Amino acid sequence: MPEAILRVRNLTKRYGTIAAVDDASFDLGKGEVLAIVGESGCGKTTLLRAIDRLTDFQGLIELEGRDISRMEGRALRRMRRSMQMIFQSPSSALDPRMKAGDIIAEPLRIHGRIERTMLKEEVGKAADAVGIDRKDLDLTPDRFSLGQKQRIAIARAIISKPSVILADEPVSSLDAPLRRGVLDLIGNLRKEMGISFIIVSHDLEMVRSISDRVIVMNLGRIVEEAKTDELYSNPLHPFTKALLDAASLPDPIDEIGRIRPSLPGEPVRPEPSFSGCPFQPRCRESMAKCISIRPGLDEAAAGHLVSCLLHQRKER
Ligand SMILES: Nc1ncnc2c1ncn2[C@@H]1O[C@H](COP(=O)(O)OP(=O)(O)O)[C@@H](O)[C@H]1O
Ligand SMILES: [Mg+2]
Repeated sequence: MPEAILRVRNLTKRYGTIAAVDDASFDLGKGEVLAIVGESGCGKTTLLRAIDRLTDFQGLIELEGRDISRMEGRALRRMRRSMQMIFQSPSSALDPRMKAGDIIAEPLRIHGRIERTMLKEEVGKAADAVGIDRKDLDLTPDRFSLGQKQRIAIARAIISKPSVILADEPVSSLDAPLRRGVLDLIGNLRKEMGISFIIVSHDLEMVRSISDRVIVMNLGRIVEEAKTDELYSNPLHPFTKALLDAASLPDPIDEIGRIRPSLPGEPVRPEPSFSGCPFQPRCRESMAKCISIRPGLDEAAAGHLVSCLLHQRKER
């Protein structure tokens, strides 16, 4: 992996007794596209929101070598210039009363003084980069298609020349043809601007086409992490295998993001007192010891981490 631009260590976010994100540690490499996959409710959005400091959490986050975990005020606003977020639904992310050009300009306005003609030129360049016509920049969001709206959101995300973009299901609200266009755009931004991406998705086919590395989450925990080719050709965790099996079916994901039907049941969280593997109740390869021993995230092969007793080097 290239040098890390973002480091996340032991990140935990609790809502009451539920750990929405449970002790997540990983790196994002410079210029890398890292995908985070998992069923609805496994903590993907919470993880991204914590990284972007939109919610409090326990743990450590470093961006370009600086601890941003407790950053506040001006320092936090300046940090956000280097780390931008794109949300799932462009319609709700764009202020309906604002002109597209003003929406795109927002991060530059928030982050300091900038001359008007220069601002206009920067907005124009961001619009060019995402394929929005400069002459449409005076229109409000309702005048654009869904795909164009997501392009406007991306233009806003890149205008401050960030080093990292966090994208939460960036294409799941778009139809197939629009999807391809937005994914190609992300690929180009990574190549031309050197931006590193974390892309959250439950669409494994999309993830395969766009990412360098994949993290698989289940019930708030990272259960597997590997280079994309390695993960798809040699999945190790029974949950990952079930996800991939389901993805080869015609309609693998139901309307609320659960995979079906090769994985029995819903993602039920075991009682806090349960000391075994949290995936054990749904696991097709469960062994007796899985009820009492919780596996750690261990390296099964170089760069391939898995949290499963089937692949544990030594029991703890
Ligand atoms: N604001 C909140 N208050 C309470 N529980 C929440 C809140 N946001 C998320 N959760 C819970 O945290 C878990 C993870 O949710 P989320 O991060 O949205 O998952 P995903 O994005 O993978 O679908 C779920 O059990 C969800 O119900
Ligand atoms: Mg989500």
